[in-house]
Amino acid sequence: MGRIRILSDEVANKIAAGEVVERPASVVKELLENSLDAGATRVAIDVAGGGRRLIRVSDDGCGMLRDDAMLAFERHATSKLSSAKDLLNISTLGFRGEALPSIGSVSRLLLETRPPDQLTGTIVEIAGAKMIRCEEAALAPGTQITVRDLFYNVPARKKFLRSDETKLAHIARLATHYSLANPDKRFLLTSEGKDLLEVTPVGSVRDRVYQVFGSETFEGLIDLGVRERAMPAGDGEEPKLFRLRGFVSRPQIQKLNRNSIYLFVNRRLIRDRLLLHALSAAYHNLIPPACFPFALLFLECNATEVDVNVHPAKTEVRFRSATFVHDFLRDSVREALIATKPVSAIPLPARAQPAAQLPYSEFTQKLEDSAWQAPVNEFVPVIRNEAARLDLAEEEPQPRLPVPETHGAFPPELVPELSESLTALADLRPLGQIHDSFIVAAGRDGLWIIDQHVAHERILFEKILKQRAAGRVQMQALLMPLIVQLTPAQQVDYDRIAGELAAVGFDAEPFGHRTIAVKAAPAGVGAGDIERLVFEILEIADRELRKLSMDDVRRSIAASIACRAAIKVNMPLDQGKMEWLLKTLAETECPMSCPHGRPIALRYSLRDILRGFHRI
Ligand SMILES: Nc1ncnc2c1ncn2[C@@H]1O[C@H](COP(=O)(O)OP(=O)(O)OP(=O)(O)O)[C@@H](O)[C@H]1O
Ligand SMILES: [Mg+2]
Repeated sequence: MGRIRILSDEVANKIAAGEVVERPASVVKELLENSLDAGATRVAIDVAGGGRRLIRVSDDGCGMLRDDAMLAFERHATSKLSSAKDLLNISTLGFRGEALPSIGSVSRLLLETRPPDQLTGTIVEIAGAKMIRCEEAALAPGTQITVRDLFYNVPARKKFLRSDETKLAHIARLATHYSLANPDKRFLLTSEGKDLLEVTPVGSVRDRVYQVFGSETFEGLIDLGVRERAMPAGDGEEPKLFRLRGFVSRPQIQKLNRNSIYLFVNRRLIRDRLLLHALSAAYHNLIPPACFPFALLFLECNATEVDVNVHPAKTEVRFRSATFVHDFLRDSVREALIATKPVSAIPLPARAQPAAQLPYSEFTQKLEDSAWQAPVNEFVPVIRNEAARLDLAEEEPQPRLPVPETHGAFPPELVPELSESLTALADLRPLGQIHDSFIVAAGRDGLWIIDQHVAHERILFEKILKQRAAGRVQMQALLMPLIVQLTPAQQVDYDRIAGELAAVGFDAEPFGHRTIAVKAAPAGVGAGDIERLVFEILEIADRELRKLSMDDVRRSIAASIACRAAIKVNMPLDQGKMEWLLKTLAETECPMSCPHGRPIALRYSLRDILRGFHRI
């Protein structure tokens, strides 16, 4: 008995309608999803001409009987859904019965399929939606679908296709995504005889990430482990458990676009504004606002909690409890970031690498760079402190002295466990300052350089937020009230946030037409800076109240005050002050970056030092 049925009009009409096949990558996506739904453990993809000339996807899944193989090309023919009720509880990647007929209508398609328990298989040939051939054949078990000349009968669409390289990059990204979500399966992607991705089954996502991106990328990531949160149940309902796993990048890794964010909901790759927002919120005040992290996140929940039937390409979802999911993701990622307290490493001069085959990540990097001019897979920490870099780089290279025999060998077992974390800050011994701006300190695990301004900024930022929450901020009374003249727009913004200004330590009151008198300001801010600070805060309110929550505005205001009140660069500090700064920084929640996202400390690890002196 066949398994595929045609959906009734009632069900078919409830399915998000629209374009299924927009470009070659959409074909690959649909075929890959079908293979995964068919229980395949091995999926091979072969393409030519960026997928326009050829896309072939072969799997070792359950295959199709002859009747099903023919029925599969009818619209709304699916084995995965039968009633409208099933739409509320979808656990397969496909459910509409739209993909194969859509692909078959814009290409020349060959389906070869055989269920493993059948002796023979079936070949179906389709061209421009018409069935040309259907016959029995001796085939290997599983399914192979070959799509040639995509859009050959849709000249308008063909014109809009991008270069072969861009199309191939999209396909490569897609195969990568699915391989990440299915570490227990084997994936192979080849283009015109070249292997682009080949991954064998592994035991965990962690191993798969390592396989796909390589060790360097892997080291820049934080493993979230398994995080769970139960949604309180309604009357008579079971509590709903949400689970999040995956990896996020350390704050030093900053991307210029969202291309390195991979989100999966119940193993389905999606683009979701809610989850993207939650991720940005987790990195708020840790990386600059225009930057994005790398993230590979798998959210799992009961299928009834998420509606996948909202977009024709099945790339968007809608959560029943959007706020709950948003906060769960934000808190989980933030907790992991805070717990790790990671630090920026000082970049070492590149070392000669033994010639090797271009790793997959570099290959896609090349493809995507040329396609979009935007880096995708590189993990170079952004060191924004140019001065710190210059000081190190401009040093004249020293002639290398012969190493005395006795010091020559440094048995590797003597190399102490290297701490990657800023928790080591508390043990640092300040040695002095460079340019009266950067503290140089010796630690158990290497040499550290700390930007004194941003370090103090982080300390004050957290202090202000804590005091603000407890309702007792530190203020300074001004000898003379400061009269500040506002523009009409600033007056509007001021009225909106007057309460917030009072809460962070301003004592201000109206003083005639569009003028305020400031009688007290947050402690630590220099008298000359107060007016500028007020304007800066009004600007934040103007810019951010439109898109951010009040909580975010509060954090931004605290960041501004902290910046104004913090020790400046070019300021000599005595030993006691430096010790106090490092000790207090170690006690903060996020000693790794300032509230604007810049790194606070750079570390030249002991391992790097040993390497630099050729001792390991
Ligand atoms: N690789 C495959 N192995 C086994 N059966 C398959 C395979 N590809 C497709 N099928 C069968 O053909 C049917 C139609 O596939 P199609 O992709 O058109 O629809 P769908 O997967 O059910 O829904 P959607 O349109 O959302 O992808 C599937 O329901 C499945 O039964
Ligand atoms: Mg499908």
